[in-house]
Amino acid sequence: MTKKMNIPFSPPDITVEEADAVRDALLSGWITTGPRVKEFERRIAAFCSQEEYKEDVLPHVVCLSSATASMEMAYRLIGIKPSDEVIIPAYTYTATASSVLHAGGKLVMCDSQPGTFEMDYEQLARLITPRTKVIVAVDIAGVICDYDRIYEIVNRPETKAMFHAESDIQKEYGRVIVLADCAHSFGSSKDGKMAGTWADFNAFSFHAVKNFTTAEGGALAWRSLGEERDALLYRKLQLLSLHGQSKDAFAKTKLGAWEYDVVGAYYKANMTDIMAAIGLVQMRRYPEMLARREQIINYYNCRLKEFVDNGTIQVLRHFFDSHHSNGHLYQVRMIGKGEAERNAVITRMAELGVATNVHFKPLPMMTAYSELGFDISNFPAAYDYYKNEITLPLWSKMTDKQAEYVMDCFVEVLRQNK
Ligand SMILES: Cc1ncc(COP(=O)(O)O)c(C=O)c1O
Repeated sequence: MTKKMNIPFSPPDITVEEADAVRDALLSGWITTGPRVKEFERRIAAFCSQEEYKEDVLPHVVCLSSATASMEMAYRLIGIKPSDEVIIPAYTYTATASSVLHAGGKLVMCDSQPGTFEMDYEQLARLITPRTKVIVAVDIAGVICDYDRIYEIVNRPETKAMFHAESDIQKEYGRVIVLADCAHSFGSSKDGKMAGTWADFNAFSFHAVKNFTTAEGGALAWRSLGEERDALLYRKLQLLSLHGQSKDAFAKTKLGAWEYDVVGAYYKANMTDIMAAIGLVQMRRYPEMLARREQIINYYNCRLKEFVDNGTIQVLRHFFDSHHSNGHLYQVRMIGKGEAERNAVITRMAELGVATNVHFKPLPMMTAYSELGFDISNFPAAYDYYKNEITLPLWSKMTDKQAEYVMDCFVEVLRQNK
């Protein structure tokens, strides 16, 4: 093996272009939500719908401060009340769950299908009650969930007959609403459709560890309901995320236009123009960043093939059939192993200088959710997936030498671990 290297898990891919854009934004005289955020929203809408970018359209995307805020604002928009149930997978990050609680909803958790992290759709169908308002699917690691299956379930006549619509928007949908937690999947596609267009509402994260970053940040994209309805939703989301103020700071700068109303005691979760400045540059660079991730994944796959073939490990597939993920996480499962052996591999990799991670420790194993009564023994498939999962470092600026070092170390550890 070559000399010891230090390999971080997922440093951001930021160049002088992003730094220059931030500098320009800072010196432009406008640093909070303004023209850059508006352009970024239109760019995201064009990217997800694979349509040409247009200057003068109101997008069905709102940029916010995080994916968590995006999901929370979606629940506020949908009108979630304390007795309303939102079904989420047990195998996810806390934000998928905490946003439901922030909005005052009741959490219901669904186990995974054995051997995957996707929800068990049979169980999902059984969990729906007359109080279910939203189902959340999570595109973990960039892999798009089976939304066709979820829509087949929510559109079943018996499921629709059970649905009890209360708010106007719930009446408009007339069925359980589907929300995609796309925190990991910006830029993934399946059957020619991009992440962000699969569900009724889709929440992206641009947090620092994501493929595409604005440092913090996120966006809520919804399936277009037609121009008039989209404009209404856009307006409501602006109000919900900016104090319920009828004019944003930019509109108030127009000469003489000081007066505004406050239509609700709402929240503060807007994106700044400084963040959007980073996002606009990332948008231009993203195809090349995605291509690099794909190269590294293919290289890892080649180096690990012998261990996949002999049943030592299972590797998450990113590119198959019509599915093309954004390659967010390189997940490996150590077949037949448990938590202690997996943790020993993480420690050994750390000694060799390689940072790894686990995605995810199921929510019922976290204090906050076990105190709410969720018990991991009721989620055996989620536990089985977690107990031997290890995520290897992967980032778009990783050099060939660094990727080689990660594989040299991992292969050595796998051999020792036999
Ligand atoms: C699956 C999932 N959902 C939501 C989030 C929250 O994203 P944000 O930090 O932008 O709120 C994360 C963050 O890592 C995540 O992994």
